[in-house]
Amino acid sequence: EKLGVDGLWLSPVYLSPQVDNGYDITDYRVIDTMFGSNEDMYRLIEAAHDKNIKIIMDFVANHTSDQCVWFQESRKGTDNFFSDFYIWQDAKPDGSEPNNWGSSFGGSAWTWDEKREQYYLHYYAAEQPDLNWENPQLRQKVYDMMNFWIDKGIGGFRMDVIDMIGKIPDQLIDTNGPKLHDYIKEMNKASFGKHDLLTVGETWGATPEIAKQYSNPDNQELSMVFQFEHIGLQHKPDSPKWEYEKELDVTALKAIFNKWQTELELGQGWNSLFWNNHDLPRIVSNWGNDGKYRLKSAKTFAILLHLMKGTPYIYQGEELGMTNYPFESIEEVNDIESRNMFAERLAAGHSENEIMDSIRRVGRDNARTPMQWTAGENAGFTDGKPWLAVNPNHEEINADQAMSDPDSVFYTYQKLIELRKQHDWVIYGDFKLIDSEDDVFAYLRTYQGKKYLVVANLSDEENQFKNRQ
Ligand code: NOJ
Repeated sequence: EKLGVDGLWLSPVYLSPQVDNGYDITDYRVIDTMFGSNEDMYRLIEAAHDKNIKIIMDFVANHTSDQCVWFQESRKGTDNFFSDFYIWQDAKPDGSEPNNWGSSFGGSAWTWDEKREQYYLHYYAAEQPDLNWENPQLRQKVYDMMNFWIDKGIGGFRMDVIDMIGKIPDQLIDTNGPKLHDYIKEMNKASFGKHDLLTVGETWGATPEIAKQYSNPDNQELSMVFQFEHIGLQHKPDSPKWEYEKELDVTALKAIFNKWQTELELGQGWNSLFWNNHDLPRIVSNWGNDGKYRLKSAKTFAILLHLMKGTPYIYQGEELGMTNYPFESIEEVNDIESRNMFAERLAAGHSENEIMDSIRRVGRDNARTPMQWTAGENAGFTDGKPWLAVNPNHEEINADQAMSDPDSVFYTYQKLIELRKQHDWVIYGDFKLIDSEDDVFAYLRTYQGKKYLVVANLSDEENQFKNRQ
């Protein structure tokens, strides 16, 4: 409330065995007791609403947990209501998997089920079987579940890997399948389209053309999508994320933002703006300087992003300038992606040190350590044992400290949010990149005859800026 945000996106809080941080859902209508009860959730929705904050739920409809009753029934055989809820295929004559797809978390994307004597598909862990969107009954169940939460008064959905629901394994189509947009239009009609809700799709490979397809209001699909082209600069081209780039290529960053800012014109599409989320390292550590210039770096990234055109998303703790975690051993890591990668790369001959180095730099748990409220025990996050260790720097970096320091990162975020609410140029102004020195990111927003110049120095050296326009 003090920060000024008008929405709160929660990572999945549904009943889950937590193989993948809640992205493996057992029951979409039940809140996991580790977070509270359904009643607690309804109270949260109401209490947030009273403060003009809407709750955005994470909607994971590409897959469920293998504990979900749909899957439990589906694996029993080929002739029950749930048989076709998932993607089952026979083994090849030699007993091998139907195709060569790999899971994002390592190994094959197919697992043999002894009960049903078929393979099932899972893009993620074997405990996360993929749903079969070709099945209209499955689709209806999903829409019912969405309506259940809409009726409880939520403000919208963030849609997990939504670009994968239209897959066709037989044709080796995994992303952006031919029926994807039909499904989304159908979903819109059957659920959120009738209400004033925010919907944002997670679409890793979206181009501006694809983003417009989703977010052009005439298409009646989603409000906007998360595209990750800028995030791609964290890794070496065409390499796994663990092969990370040591330095940010500011020139490439400018070109990417310029493309998205100018191609998604108002009325034709809409951008979401972010540096961080629960899958990404902390921006101030990865592309900034989280030592000597932590405050300046964190503020620079905030200003750069918040004065662009689109809807900004802040990931918890980003507004305090929270940093990556100094993981020393894999024992401290919880994330299935990092743990599987550790085992695979160790077996492939990489040194432990090299692997831990990439986890410290780009591993997902960097963003998942407890929120730092105070300088006290467990950073004031819990009286119990936190699920990941608290970053030792909570003694300096915490919400208490930020509140009492007018120069803190928090107040920069607060000011930016206020500016966005007060001034239409931030929302509607044209965007123009200014040709400048390599490490300087400068742009102009123009609105109703007035011009607003934003200049950010993304290096830790002094820099020059001459407006050459
Ligand atoms: C994207 C989510 O953001 C990530 O955390 C998760 O592991 C995968 N989708 C699978 O649900």
